[in-house]
Amino acid sequence: MNYGEEIRRLADEKGALILAHNYQPPEIQDLADITGDSLELARRAKEVKESTLVVCGVYFMAETAKILSPDKTVLIPRPDAGCPLADQLTPEKVLAAKAAHPGAPFVVYVNSTAATKAECDITCTSANSAEVVRALPEDTILFGPDANLAAYAQRLVPEKKIIPVPQNGGCPTHHQFTLRDIEAARREYPNATIVCHPECSPEVQLASDMVGSTGYMMRNCGTKKEWVIFTEKGICHPLQKKYPDTLFHVMDTAVCRNMKLITEEDLYITLRDGVVPVQVPEKTADRARVAIERMINVSK
Ligand code: 13P
Repeated sequence: MNYGEEIRRLADEKGALILAHNYQPPEIQDLADITGDSLELARRAKEVKESTLVVCGVYFMAETAKILSPDKTVLIPRPDAGCPLADQLTPEKVLAAKAAHPGAPFVVYVNSTAATKAECDITCTSANSAEVVRALPEDTILFGPDANLAAYAQRLVPEKKIIPVPQNGGCPTHHQFTLRDIEAARREYPNATIVCHPECSPEVQLASDMVGSTGYMMRNCGTKKEWVIFTEKGICHPLQKKYPDTLFHVMDTAVCRNMKLITEEDLYITLRDGVVPVQVPEKTADRARVAIERMINVSK
């Protein structure tokens, strides 16, 4: 069977829209109607008219789409596509941090569960963390679960005090990069510009030429002819498509296993059988929606 043709035929027949994150396998991105970073996917999920959304990404991305569009059917081809970073911040940890710092709002990275978002004041993505922190009236801000993203926002907003919760939360795919990797990249590709994701460690961020979300990379990597990219290697596919004459290098180990689970067969079955619908308990969704919409309103 030609899965690609069948997937497009079923999507059109059922009026379903396929959204894929920039880290998805190339063949999945190529079949999607919309690709983008976490912020772009969250925004588009809310705006589009289609009543069925298929989210090709990890579970929290599909959950975010469902929270923003409770009346739509949101399907995820692989509900087992988790996020080890999201698992590092429970609702209990948020409540304990709030109790220890009365009056401090909690900014939660979208890489978190719906139940955790529900206890927080506002969400952020890697594209708008500093903007969100700046927009809050308070001077002391709780921020989690990614401590590297917290450090990035702290560097951009030095006038506020950002407290990471938990203290060492991080994404294993990004946190693996070291200063030695940057130095090795400089030696091997002396003409390349180095860009890293803000989930990388503060040392890696400081040693890079540029820091930004995957959407930032998509917008800015046309300005030079050669790049070393420190993020999940899936980003190279849309970058190469958009900038065919540019050279992109990425580390072989930069793989998020969860982002690579969805196959064309999974996507085909999802569209054919309407599985697996994402459910978020109404009370949790209502509270999490406040935090996500607050972010969308800040980040115009
Ligand atoms: P972006 O929002 O930059 O696409 O990042 C998503 C992500 O999950 C990084 O690990």
